[in-house]
Amino acid sequence: MLDNNFWKKYFQVYDVLNIVIPYQELLDAIIKEAEIKDGDVILDAGCGTGNFELRLKKDKPELKIKVIGLENCVDGLEIYKKKIKGANVRLADLTEKLPFENNYFDKIISNNVLFTIAHEKRLDILEEFHRVLKPGGKIIISNVICGFSAFKVFVDMIKKEIDKFGYLQFFSLFFKMFVPVMKIFYYSSLIKKECDFGDFRFMDEGEQARKLEKAGFKNISEDKIVYVGQAILNIAEK
Ligand SMILES: C[S@@+](CC[C@H](N)C(=O)[O-])C[C@H]1O[C@@H](n2cnc3c(N)ncnc32)[C@H](O)[C@@H]1O
Repeated sequence: MLDNNFWKKYFQVYDVLNIVIPYQELLDAIIKEAEIKDGDVILDAGCGTGNFELRLKKDKPELKIKVIGLENCVDGLEIYKKKIKGANVRLADLTEKLPFENNYFDKIISNNVLFTIAHEKRLDILEEFHRVLKPGGKIIISNVICGFSAFKVFVDMIKKEIDKFGYLQFFSLFFKMFVPVMKIFYYSSLIKKECDFGDFRFMDEGEQARKLEKAGFKNISEDKIVYVGQAILNIAEK
């Protein structure tokens, strides 16, 4: 069910996440851990509509870097190209050999992608990430875990938006965004249903770190709990 058609529909409202504070904090955590510097070539694997690059450009406009967004849903990439002038995107499938030479990237980031892909394919994907990463390069990977609750993210979002904007501004923003926000949480519930009862599985605790090690990565960090306790982030090196 988490096929291109699903993502196509989801992408029609996906970018409302850019005002969802917990999601923005998650992107900030990835950017911080990536320690990005001038000249870095970065792969955003499963880039969706390009929110990582959008946030990075906003946070660090001074950096001269090259981000390549890879995604197998053309609709996501179309939105990406509209949002980011001169975007460098590739339509490709992560479950196949990646269209890059060995040791090409300084950094690889992948946010909430692997959990949407069947368990048995995840290690092969990490091995491909290892192949295309430069020696000494870094991977930052985050995925939602078993027991994921979109509701917890929703409640945290409301608390933080009120703190940031005050009640009045929050309510006017919330009413404007009500329908897309509700759709986001509806699609999240479909993902959860698919992960609980369908062919897909959220990341098990420790799975990410174990698979990174098996794929050949070293200096693998402890599991870092992010996204209101709903996701695990690991950092590792080649
Ligand atoms: C939950 S979205 C996350 C998007 C983005 N990384 C973000 O942080 O907003 C999962 C993304 O993984 C992509 N994806 C899933 N399976 C894929 C595959 N086999 N190859 C490439 N992209 C894939 C989906 O199309 C979707 O854009």
